[in-house]
Amino acid sequence: GDVAVVVPAAGAGVRLGPGAPKALRLLDGEPLLVHAVRRTAAAPSVRMIVVAAPPADVEAVHALLSPVAPVVVVAGGAERQDSVAAALAVVPEDIGIVLVHDAARCLAPAELFERVAAAVRAGADAVIPALPVVDTIKEVAADGTVLGTVDRSVLRAVQTPQGFRAPVLRAAHAAAADLHTDDAGAVEKLGRPVICVPGSDFALKVTRPLDLALATHLLTLES
Ligand code: C5P
Repeated sequence: GDVAVVVPAAGAGVRLGPGAPKALRLLDGEPLLVHAVRRTAAAPSVRMIVVAAPPADVEAVHALLSPVAPVVVVAGGAERQDSVAAALAVVPEDIGIVLVHDAARCLAPAELFERVAAAVRAGADAVIPALPVVDTIKEVAADGTVLGTVDRSVLRAVQTPQGFRAPVLRAAHAAAADLHTDDAGAVEKLGRPVICVPGSDFALKVTRPLDLALATHLLTLES
């Protein structure tokens, strides 16, 4: 394998309701992070997996994941991008491709990692899995007044794993002055091209309680 995968898993998961850090919530009896790392490790291109865990849980997360796959676990930070930066810092310079994958997208299949890695290997600086937007999207003022309807044919909902030529991701993180919600966003600010590959319904982000119910059902559909 020529790929390192960085897994930010240090978020609290407030939108999921009270309980453990999100990556440690259970789906079919196993933490989301275990599901995510199992599928990550199943991708043949993956040489190294680095997980950013809640600082208090670094040792417990290492013990949890060791039976699943060889992993390096680091302490995450206050924001998602701090967690990604902490994990990126331990990826050796000789690994040319880095994928960033949210633990919350715990059912993203190994094939999706391969699709993203292949597009980086083929020459792209930055690659994101994306799906068409199904809802009609409105731009709305703070008082609820509709300002207009966005042309959804030009919109995409973006997932992880997002793939990068390693030096491009490092430069994007070094230059990032303000918050970004995904790593490709930081690359866009550098003025570098980002390309899309087809995403996967299985790569949904478990965010709200309904998503856990959906993910439980998706587990029964996996091939
Ligand atoms: O909160 P959200 O669902 O957007 O988080 C996306 C991913 O980033 C999750 O896997 C979460 O654990 C991770 N994260 C992190 N460090 C933070 C906040 C979020 O690793 N400080």
